[in-house]
Amino acid sequence: MHPSTMPLALLAVAASLCLPAALCGADEWKAPADATTTTNPLAAAPDAPGQGAAVYRQNCVVCHGDAGKGDGPGGQFFTPKPTNLTDAALWNESDGSLFWKLSTGRNAMPAWKAMLNDQQRWQVITYIRTISPRPAQKGVSGPRNP
Ligand code: HEC
Repeated sequence: MHPSTMPLALLAVAASLCLPAALCGADEWKAPADATTTTNPLAAAPDAPGQGAAVYRQNCVVCHGDAGKGDGPGGQFFTPKPTNLTDAALWNESDGSLFWKLSTGRNAMPAWKAMLNDQQRWQVITYIRTISPRPAQKGVSGPRNP
């Protein structure tokens, strides 16, 4: 490739990666590969959803809302706003990926690793899975930050 055509080609590649806008730059929040393959040790634990609901009520409702729709009173002034945890697009991510995000935090989302132990964090992930049904089809996409 002639050097002078290089920047244009790079721009084209960058632009194509930015469609849809939700995948563009700072909006993308991806867990590292080794975190996404971590399995949820409490996925099938009968008590986990109930225990996770208690963790959720105490720590998450204020931002993510009673029903998980991202509409908690304490979260409405943030950019981005708290994620709608009932969005089927959440199923595009593994439990391990969500656990990593919960643990690490970003923007207004606190790093819960410092405040909740591993068991509590897996419990709340297991609970989150119960508030929106798994979609029949894989590969749902869409904005999760209203
Ligand atoms: C102070 C407000 C606040 C509190 C409290 C809070 N969150 Fe969040 N949360 C956010 C915001 C804002 C985002 C979006 C962050 C971003 O995209 O940069 C987010 C994102 C998330 C995500 C990532 C979803 C995704 O895939 O992008 C999960 C999962 C999550 N929160 C779960 C929880 C759980 C569980 C709790 C309680 C233990 C909690 N949050 C408490 C504000 C909050």
